[in-house]
Parts: sequence; C-alpha cells; structure tokens
Amino acid sequence: MNYQTLLTILENGILTVVINRADKLNALNKEVFTELNQVLDEIEKSPAVKSVIITGAGSKAFVAGADITEFGGLNKQEAMALAKRGQDTFARIENSSKPIVAAVNGFALGGGCELAMSCHFRIAAENAKFGQPEVNLGLIPGYGGTQRLVQLVGKGRAMELLLSARMIDANEAKQSGLVNEVTTPDSLLEHTRKILETINSKAPLAIAACIRAANAVFDESRDGYALETEEFGNAFNTEDMKEGTTAFLEKRKAVFTGR
Ligand code: COA
Repeated sequence: MNYQTLLTILENGILTVVINRADKLNALNKEVFTELNQVLDEIEKSPAVKSVIITGAGSKAFVAGADITEFGGLNKQEAMALAKRGQDTFARIENSSKPIVAAVNGFALGGGCELAMSCHFRIAAENAKFGQPEVNLGLIPGYGGTQRLVQLVGKGRAMELLLSARMIDANEAKQSGLVNEVTTPDSLLEHTRKILETINSKAPLAIAACIRAANAVFDESRDGYALETEEFGNAFNTEDMKEGTTAFLEKRKAVFTGR
C-alpha cells in the first residue's frame, strides 16, 4: 500500500514503518494517525508480515511529538477526542499479536516517546533523546504517556520526567529501563532487524500468546495468571507445540508453521 506520511519496506518478514515527515521532525498529525491505523490493518491481515520496526525518517528525530499546529482552537471535547484517537492507535500497537519494536533514531518527545513506549520494546541510537515536554506547553501527555512511563521506569523516575519535562539521553533511558539496548545510529536498523529475525524464527502463536499474557499485567480487568494458564493450555492444541517438542527430542531445528 502507498502512504503519504509513512514509508513501508517489507524484507524477510520484517515490515519497517518509517514516519516520513522529516521537515517537521516526524510530528504526528491527523494523516499520520489515519495511515498508522491503515498500516496496523495491513500488519494484522498480511501473513507476509511477521514483525514490525517503527522508526523515523532522517537522522534527527524518531518523532518530535504530536503536531502542535493541530492544537489551536480545540475545545475540551475536541481535545479529548484527539487524545482518545492517539490512545486507541497506540493500544492497537501494544496489543498487536505480531511484535512491534521502536528503533529510536533521534528525538522521541511527547507523542514520539508515547509511540515508542507503546511498542513491545525499544532499541535506541546513541543520539536518541526521550522526554515528555508537555508541561512546557501547559499540557499533559495525552497518548498514554502518564501510564506507560510509570510502567516502564517506575513512579519516582516517571514523576520527575513528567513534572520537569527533562530530556534524557539514550544511556540514561537504558539505565531507566526505557530502552533495551543502545547502538550507533548507523547500526540501529540492522541490529533491530537481527533481534526480530531471531524472534521470527520462533512459533508465531506462542509469540502472540506471550504478548497477550505479558500485557495482562497492566490490565486490571484481567487475571494475568489465569490468562497464562489458559494460553499454556491452548499451546498444547497447536501443531507448532508438537513440532517444537518433537524437534527438540530429535535434536533438530524446529520448523514452525503458525498452526
Ligand atoms: N509539532 C509540529 N511541528 C514540530 C514539532 C511538533 N511537535 N516539533 C518540531 N516541529 C517542526 C518545527 O516547528 C520546525 O518547523 P519549521 O521548519 O516549519 O519551522 C521543524 O519541525 C524543525 O524543528 P525545530 O524546532 O526548528 O528544530 P530544533 O532542532 O531547533 O529543535 C526540538 C528540535 C525537538 C527540540 C524542537 O523541535 C521541539 O521542542 N519540538 C517540540 C517538542 C514537543 O514539545 N513535543 C510535544 C508535543 S505535545
């Protein structure tokens, strides 16, 4: 599919989605959200897509936030609808049955940090910078940032970042648990692809079940242990479980089919 604000490249089962508004530091406007939802439909439907990388165009920014030019003149109801659209889109990323990883290649501020946090995990280039600068604008994060930052870095660190609008670099983000690894800018995509190639070689239904079970930790409406028990049981009805255990006993590499 062709997009105006995204570039997509499918290679070896890995779909790289590039937010492509480099002249505006890839700020998330209405069109980006519409197209992100279209690409999420494509990810869900296409068997050719096994996993996804989200990154930003250019060398300066992953995403520098929600597009501030769209905030002018909104009333309370309109602003709430804007936040809800962002939250719903990012919840689709978080709950995707296929792994979605953020490759953070520069500024990840406001909605950009929130987009990265909605991904299943994050790899950062050395020049990445993270922050929730909304209080500088008399605002608060609206796309899940107050919730996911607390989940990822803990309440004390999250509070300091939310209240001060302080930006942190890639190394501090790693120490805080916000990112898993830091690479050079040049090796960011290649390194992220290598991680996903490993994940893509595993049983897809088991991958999807791990995502559902781990996400249940933060969903008060779910009993995560009960869900884990159920998913564990479901795995015994899959051909991949039979293949995985048989291949282990036969000392060969398993070939998974996603059934
Ligand atoms: N929304 C809309 N436009 C944005 C944007 C955003 N969140 N972030 C950057 N841009 C635009 C700038 O307005 C500028 O556009 P112009 O060339 O038409 O004037 C262009 O992107 C380049 O940004 P600029 O500010 O000139 O780059 P810089 O290197 O001086 O500063 C940042 C980089 C990231 C520090 C700065 O752009 C910034 O603070 N952005 C806003 C971050 C923010 O508050 N995000 C949360 C939004 S809720």
